[in-house]
Amino acid sequence: MNLTLRVWRQKNSTSQGTFIEYEADDISPDTSFLEMLDIVNEGLIKRGEDPVAFDHDCREGICGTCGMVINGIAHGPLGATTTCQLHMRHFKDGQLITIEPWRARPFPVIKDLVVDRSAFDRVIQAGGYISARTGGTPDGNTIQISKPDADLAMDAAACIGCGACVAACKNASAMLFVAAKVSHLNILPQGKPEKDRRVVNMVRAMDEEGFGNCTVMGSCEAVCPKEISLDFISRMNRDYLGALWRSR
Ligand code: SF4
Ligand code: FES
Repeated sequence: MNLTLRVWRQKNSTSQGTFIEYEADDISPDTSFLEMLDIVNEGLIKRGEDPVAFDHDCREGICGTCGMVINGIAHGPLGATTTCQLHMRHFKDGQLITIEPWRARPFPVIKDLVVDRSAFDRVIQAGGYISARTGGTPDGNTIQISKPDADLAMDAAACIGCGACVAACKNASAMLFVAAKVSHLNILPQGKPEKDRRVVNMVRAMDEEGFGNCTVMGSCEAVCPKEISLDFISRMNRDYLGALWRSR
């Protein structure tokens, strides 16, 4: 396949970025999107040019490190797929592909396609953990958890913290991410002692980081590679209001 890439290039967080076009020639349809960028970067390095900076780690869809907006869609056109799991066979020969970083004020661009997502870390630090002693595996297994609760908690825990939900939202809302992180702990018995404190503190941290409000457009759910459901936002809102009521 031969492709034309329109890539966002930005030297650092303070410089002004711009789109630059590159040709990506002789790309196998079985190449992953990130491997295709590796090939383009090899060419740039050979020519003595600065390679395109982009984030990646596992390249298996589990770590949440990769992420870019491809032709206007966070993580690209496939749905329920991280950028690293997207393959070039989902594009057409000769296609123009526009590649941009996540665009949201709480995720400032560090360089090219790399953004600073430490705002998510600070939201997690505000309550995305349990401090109860849970003992070893045998102790954990003595606490009975119903199958529906276990399944629901696992669905929420599937969130990999990639930030696509924020990038896709016109309000740059982090509600889907925070709702998943609150819910996967609040649903389980080990997370219940800190349930109220967790939701109030994580919502406060989310607001302090400058993420916007949710207006239930569903753009976040549509791009989420782990198909986290909007229902978790409703669940978090219920937990939040309950916590405020109990703290009166
Ligand atoms: S909710 Fe989905 S899109 Fe948002 S951070 Fe988690 S995995 Fe990524
Ligand atoms: S590099 Fe880990 S999810 Fe894409």
